[in-house]
Amino acid sequence: MTAARKWTAQDVPDQTGRTAVVTGATSGIGFATAKELARHGAHVVLAVRDTGKAAVAAARIRAAVPRAELTVQRLDLADLGSVREAAKELADRCERIDVLLNNAGVMWTPEARTADGYELQFATNHLGHFALTGLLLDTLRATPGARAVTISSYVHRLARIDFADLNAERRYSRYRAYGQSKLANLMFSLELQRRLAAAGADTVAVAAHPGLAATGLGRDFPAAFHRIGPTLGPLFLQPADRGMLPGLRAATDPGVRGGQFYGPLGLTETRGHPGPVRTGGSARDPRVWRRLWEESERLTGVSYGI
Ligand SMILES: NC(=O)c1ccc[n+]([C@@H]2O[C@H](COP(=O)([O-])OP(=O)(O)OC[C@H]3O[C@@H](n4cnc5c(N)ncnc54)[C@H](OP(=O)(O)O)[C@@H]3O)[C@@H](O)[C@H]2O)c1
Repeated sequence: MTAARKWTAQDVPDQTGRTAVVTGATSGIGFATAKELARHGAHVVLAVRDTGKAAVAAARIRAAVPRAELTVQRLDLADLGSVREAAKELADRCERIDVLLNNAGVMWTPEARTADGYELQFATNHLGHFALTGLLLDTLRATPGARAVTISSYVHRLARIDFADLNAERRYSRYRAYGQSKLANLMFSLELQRRLAAAGADTVAVAAHPGLAATGLGRDFPAAFHRIGPTLGPLFLQPADRGMLPGLRAATDPGVRGGQFYGPLGLTETRGHPGPVRTGGSARDPRVWRRLWEESERLTGVSYGI
């Protein structure tokens, strides 16, 4: 194993003076990343849909990191009105945003629509983060070397963007909808980087995936998974504080470049130390990135202007 393969949270440079906004910081990967960023001195904004849970999360972080500098921001990614409100409050209250970690997510939810009329997984995982990033772009661009880090998944490799039924109006499969949303996360990051570079911005977009980690993500899994989970889970899942390492590295390692994708380097990218990984074939077509981008601007009403 090379030195590069052994990157750990101890390699995070001092984050004092930097601000990181972490979506979905109440649980799992988001909580573990927020704690680590706070441990290294960042001001961390816990961007969450449930402020009661955020208070518990903040208390847990402070128990581990007594000097943690934390702020709570209400944000429901499944509601574009809430995303707009949150972005405005964040832009008003944060002089700088060095890292926007687009992490929150739901998986395999039963068929549901948001108040805006969008399929829940696509709306929460992709559209909400697309809108949030666009609305915070001026603040990100005003912060030297800022990064937008978006958490995708290894399952993007099995997915495709179904432009004929993006919003699952004809047919809903919870598995396909999740896969599509995670492929969309990755394509969004790649297209954002392409546009930022073309605009000469020094803001970068980076994607990451956690491999397999024991978090709250399985709450909507079918009953059979809950029956076998306690036995098989420990064999396959790494703890959240390992699963968060690719995103943490993407957010903080000075060697990271825009357009990269980080994941765990061991055992078919399910576990291990984080490093750059390859995107699956379905994520490599810039024509699809561009089409998804245009659809996302139309569906969210958020135009990036780049
Ligand atoms: N765990 C894995 O093995 C794995 C693998 C691949 C990719 N991922 C990705 O990793 C990311 C983090 O997931 P996790 O595994 O840490 O799961 P988790 O423990 O369930 O955390 C998900 C977080 O997202 C928040 N969230 C859900 N819907 C939201 C909404 N509408 N608005 C704002 N926040 C919302 C949740 O808030 P509440 O506490 O209020 O529910 C929670 O804080 C996701 O993007 C997921 O797709 C995870």
